[in-house]
Amino acid sequence: MPDHKKIEVSMVDEADCKAVWLINNDPEIRSMSFSQESIPYEDHIKWFQKKITDKNSKMYKFVSSNKIVGLVRLDVEKKQALVNIAVRHEFRGKGVGTEILRLTIILAKGLKLKTLLAEIKQTNKPSLKLFNKLGFFEKETILVNKEKVTKLELNV
Ligand SMILES: CC(C)(COP(=O)(O)OP(=O)(O)OC[C@H]1O[C@@H](n2cnc3c(N)ncnc32)[C@H](O)[C@@H]1OP(=O)(O)O)[C@@H](O)C(=O)NCCC(=O)NCCS
Repeated sequence: MPDHKKIEVSMVDEADCKAVWLINNDPEIRSMSFSQESIPYEDHIKWFQKKITDKNSKMYKFVSSNKIVGLVRLDVEKKQALVNIAVRHEFRGKGVGTEILRLTIILAKGLKLKTLLAEIKQTNKPSLKLFNKLGFFEKETILVNKEKVTKLELNV
């Protein structure tokens, strides 16, 4: 189990391309995403190149004992950002997500953002619990591909 006090955050860089693909292609992460098919590596490379050069997309890696334990992407629009969080499978349910989201809120303050947004499928109980726990409030429920999705917000 990673020691939460030793989780360090830095920006994702070119060298993390494959590690990000491996985390994002985890079947459980795909099933909780809006596009559920597994991602071919070639497609991922194109997406990744676009994202790391996009100034409105901030990708962070969270590292403990030289291992990436989780990722966060902030898709920024004006003073708001949509949060996308993923914890590596073997580190889930141990408080890593809580620590990563806590650090993300600090990063958002540093970026002078006003609001963090999340869009979470209602079937994704661990994620809803996590965002509620850190103070996000449920704003509305929408339907995406006939699935109920909760939109949450936090004023940072
Ligand atoms: C959502 C996710 C980031 C949570 O990370 P995590 O490291 O497991 O989170 P934590 O261990 O800090 O747990 C957070 C809360 O969820 C609860 N939880 C964790 N796993 C759970 C599970 N399988 N079922 C129900 N609740 C669960 C925990 O009990 C905790 O609440 P508590 O502190 O009140 O007990 C992780 O499950 C994940 O990567 N999921 C796939 C990607 C995803 O769904 N992202 C969200 C969309 S943006």
